[in-house]
Amino acid sequence: MSTVYLNGEFLPLEEAKVPVLDRGFIFGDGIYELVPCYGGTPLRLAEHLARLKRSLAAIGLTNPYSDDEWRALIEQIVQRNGRGDLSVYFQVTRGVAKRDHSFPQGVMPTVFMMANPLATPSAAQVEGGVACISMPDNRWLRCDIKSISLLSNVLLRQAATDAGGAEVLLFRDGFLTEGSASNILVVREGQLLAPPKDNLILPGITYDLVMELDAKYGVPFEVREISEAETKSADELMLTSSVREVLSITTLDGEPIGNGRPGPIFRMLHKLYQDYKAGLSGEHQS
Ligand code: PDD
Repeated sequence: MSTVYLNGEFLPLEEAKVPVLDRGFIFGDGIYELVPCYGGTPLRLAEHLARLKRSLAAIGLTNPYSDDEWRALIEQIVQRNGRGDLSVYFQVTRGVAKRDHSFPQGVMPTVFMMANPLATPSAAQVEGGVACISMPDNRWLRCDIKSISLLSNVLLRQAATDAGGAEVLLFRDGFLTEGSASNILVVREGQLLAPPKDNLILPGITYDLVMELDAKYGVPFEVREISEAETKSADELMLTSSVREVLSITTLDGEPIGNGRPGPIFRMLHKLYQDYKAGLSGEHQS
């Protein structure tokens, strides 16, 4: 049975309860983070905590804890759940109050944290890549906030699942934004292309890490708007996320990308990512 954290207490998952008037339940009024941990060591924790702070500030919620307090909670949840490869999920909502759209005054935020086994891609997915579909991006214009209001993302991902795909690539006004729960990178003519981290995408921690690894390896890259046509005729496509790490997209809407096999830049980045994970302790830990 997994142990979770709720408002100051560690308790069994089955015993963790939130009042129905919690604004997370009523309005989806809250934000979240998900930190991957390998052998109990969080990957890029400083960056996840910085993004948490940006999301909280963007929705006018005071950060309930200091960085050190967050770090201690994450350490505890990892410890209490076996220190394996885990995804640590935590969310902060605007708390429990009579239903009214305006912010309630003097209400404590609700803080919830859990750790689940990290479901990284299978060897077959890494070796063979995954199929994806494309759809218009119909989400709001603050996709940079890691909001728990994920109805569009849920519906978009379900469309991919129904079509037998692993993810949906989203396009807004003819340009690539991201996936329903991942960032998307494009390879054309030996260059790695990434959409800008503006209000239309979540600034992914994995996106940053993969771009860093790419730069370190001397593969040219550019951050710029990428058209739908450029995406669909790419030599390679890949997705990045804390759960799926870096994963090759080998078909889009049933059409092969490149030769329909994971390409050389994906294979290099995947190897660098695995090496980075393996070295996760001391100097790499952040
Ligand atoms: N999602 N874009 C969206 C919309 C996301 O939901 C995510 C991550 C990403 C990738 O961000 P990162 O590399 O920091 O994980 C991009 C998490 C994994 C989730 O909701 O489960």
